[in-house]
Amino acid sequence: MLIIQISDLHIRAERALLNRRYDSAGNLDRCVAAINQLPRQADLVIATGDLVQFGARAEYACLREILDKLHAPLLLLPGNHDNRQKLRDSFPEHDYLTLYPDSCRFVCDDYPLRIIALDTVIDGEVEGAIGTEQLEWLEDQLAARPEKPTLIAMHHPPFSGMIDFGNKPSCADGPALAALLQDHPQVRKVISGHLHRAIATGFAQTQGTVAPSTAVSFGIPFFPDTPFYRTDEPVGFQIHVWADSTDDSAVITHTVSLACDTQAAKIFAITDETA
Ligand SMILES: [Fe+2]
Repeated sequence: MLIIQISDLHIRAERALLNRRYDSAGNLDRCVAAINQLPRQADLVIATGDLVQFGARAEYACLREILDKLHAPLLLLPGNHDNRQKLRDSFPEHDYLTLYPDSCRFVCDDYPLRIIALDTVIDGEVEGAIGTEQLEWLEDQLAARPEKPTLIAMHHPPFSGMIDFGNKPSCADGPALAALLQDHPQVRKVISGHLHRAIATGFAQTQGTVAPSTAVSFGIPFFPDTPFYRTDEPVGFQIHVWADSTDDSAVITHTVSLACDTQAAKIFAITDETA
């Protein structure tokens, strides 16, 4: 099974530049073109939040125009820049977003790898949280299908990626999630976004990853007091591969980078077959 993760798309209305500098719409165009040209068709694309910059209807309309070109099925998840209701209104066919009034969490049981998406958005806040009620819901979902390999997707990483905003953890109750996952070994990976660069770490008894942004990259904090900064590093997306041949197979993650001058059509072209 091939799952593509795109994250932190930060689309602006009428394709306006993000922060007057970053072509988030043009970069997403190139990501979509590259995903469509994968040598093996993706089973699923999941977008892990910050779909638009200001949660505005006109931004979601622009986002739709770009994402409608994707060939693979798409799942959406909000981030701290999103507005749940406007997201739902703009993608009415994504009815899984409306199952809970104050949360866009969902379970996808359509594939051999089960996907559970958590909504970590706290309205008006940069940081996120899972919340007691959603943690209890998650525990119920995991307890209901202990035999089924599962991937958890969320916008705010529940672990430290070293990049923080104001010395606060991205997700306030990440440790509570880690404690819960100790009892649910079917969770093969926790994927997230928010930190705008590819990051991998251990988390509970599983693995945690952060996908790069399709819009703009954040810099590595090389020292504890390094302030937050953006860079001109390539943007990109991740490919999560699950072999589904053995019960204990891991989800393997590859990061695809798209430099500004890279033509999407050439990303997966063979240039040399010499070992
Ligand atoms: Fe973001």
